[in-house]
Amino acid sequence: MAFNVVILAAGQGKRMHSELPKVLHRLAGKPLLAHVIDAARSLKPRRICVIYGHGGDQVPLAMAGNGLTFVLQDKQLGTGHALKQALPYLDPAAGTLVLYGDVPLISSRTLRKLTAARDERVRLLTATFDDPKGYGRILRDVGGNVIGIVEEKDASPEQRRIHEGSTGLIYLPTRRLDGLLSKLSNRNVQGEYYLTDVVGLAILAGIPVDAVSPQSLWEVQGVNSQRQLAELERVYQRVAAERLLDAGVSLADPQRFDLRGSLRCGKDVRIDVNCVFEGEVKLGDGVEVGPNCIIRNSSVGAATKLAAFTLIDDARVGKRCVVGPFARIRPATELADEVHIGNFVEIKASRIGQRSKANHLAYIGDSRVGRNVNVGAGTITCNYDGANKHQTIIEDDVFIGSDTQLVAPVRIKRGATIGAGSTITKDAPAQQLTLSRTRQLSVPNWHRPRKPVKGH
Ligand code: UD1
Ligand code: CA
Repeated sequence: MAFNVVILAAGQGKRMHSELPKVLHRLAGKPLLAHVIDAARSLKPRRICVIYGHGGDQVPLAMAGNGLTFVLQDKQLGTGHALKQALPYLDPAAGTLVLYGDVPLISSRTLRKLTAARDERVRLLTATFDDPKGYGRILRDVGGNVIGIVEEKDASPEQRRIHEGSTGLIYLPTRRLDGLLSKLSNRNVQGEYYLTDVVGLAILAGIPVDAVSPQSLWEVQGVNSQRQLAELERVYQRVAAERLLDAGVSLADPQRFDLRGSLRCGKDVRIDVNCVFEGEVKLGDGVEVGPNCIIRNSSVGAATKLAAFTLIDDARVGKRCVVGPFARIRPATELADEVHIGNFVEIKASRIGQRSKANHLAYIGDSRVGRNVNVGAGTITCNYDGANKHQTIIEDDVFIGSDTQLVAPVRIKRGATIGAGSTITKDAPAQQLTLSRTRQLSVPNWHRPRKPVKGH
């Protein structure tokens, strides 16, 4: 559908008590404004204008490179004045949808209802609130037709008893905007140019006005304080959790689940409490995620078990692996199928071959590890010389004894065994035992020093 979008985001957000412009505060890991932009973008509008002001260039800088038009509203003289700033950038042949940067959960479904008008008309998004406090009230005539909006601060006691409130979101005929907006006055309690006044003006000008309502009330809730932000975060997470439950994912506790991105799950996936999923995460059939795991931009193959407190970041984990507890899989790591990574093992930018194991206290960085390799407890790849990173190559069927340092660049050839406690600085030949260790020595007739006994 062809229409313009204008997102009002110039306000200060005083009640956040923050230096950061309100619309850059994060919900589900993403700035409030980005949620609104994504919702708008899902409808493929002609263009998206963002009105910014308070907080200087922070908003355009944070959202740069998104194909957006940023328009400065120097002084925040009201929502009507804000929209006026966008006029030169709008396509007059298409309608204009006005959104708020601090109303993040608006759905594309509701936006579709709002913009579906074919003819030139004004369409409001209104909702009936149990407690309409703070909202502009919708005035209707006896026939139920919308005749205007009155801001709460300007409303009479009778008008304040109206429960239908303005969400502020509105769809307008662009060609008529200049005329309507130039008629706005700021003679009201707040001394602002109210966008909501265009409704009454439109009716005077003979432009039809109607109203639609959102699918769910939480869609139109605004963020004005940290408290409201936290409440909306919970709403978002509840909806995300319910979507997964409905798709057959088992969540130990939907109230202790956090999604900050997208999560795709196969069948019979089980997720224990307090897990955080960030960016794009994919879990295969039968994956089990233990409590307190954090998974970011990664995929996990079918039937893999991630034990408690495992961190996986920008990695690919194969099928039927066992990882954790307390494992850290860092970016550019690839675990093949049936790999076992145990507690306090860190792996960075490495490929680990099928059925290989590193079960305790190890660091493997910048390495290529073959199949059926056993990495003993306390093994470290010394990949960094203070200036450069070097590669360690461990071929198939190698056994690395415990507490070994592999000083890269180094290659451990197929089937080699490295004796425990070795510092390996040169390539180790295939099929042999290699170790670097001072020989064990016992001193006969040696006595441990003793403390002198007092009084002697
Ligand atoms: C507005 C509506 C009110 C509605 C309520 C819903 C008006 C006059 N009132 O009131 O009917 O019930 O939203 O939440 O529109 N902004 C600018 N520039 C400005 C002023 C505001 O960009 O000069 C932006 C703010 O950043 C915010 C949005 O517009 O994103 C709404 O402004 P706000 O001051 O919060 O309006 P309300 O008084 O809540
Ligand atoms: Ca508001």
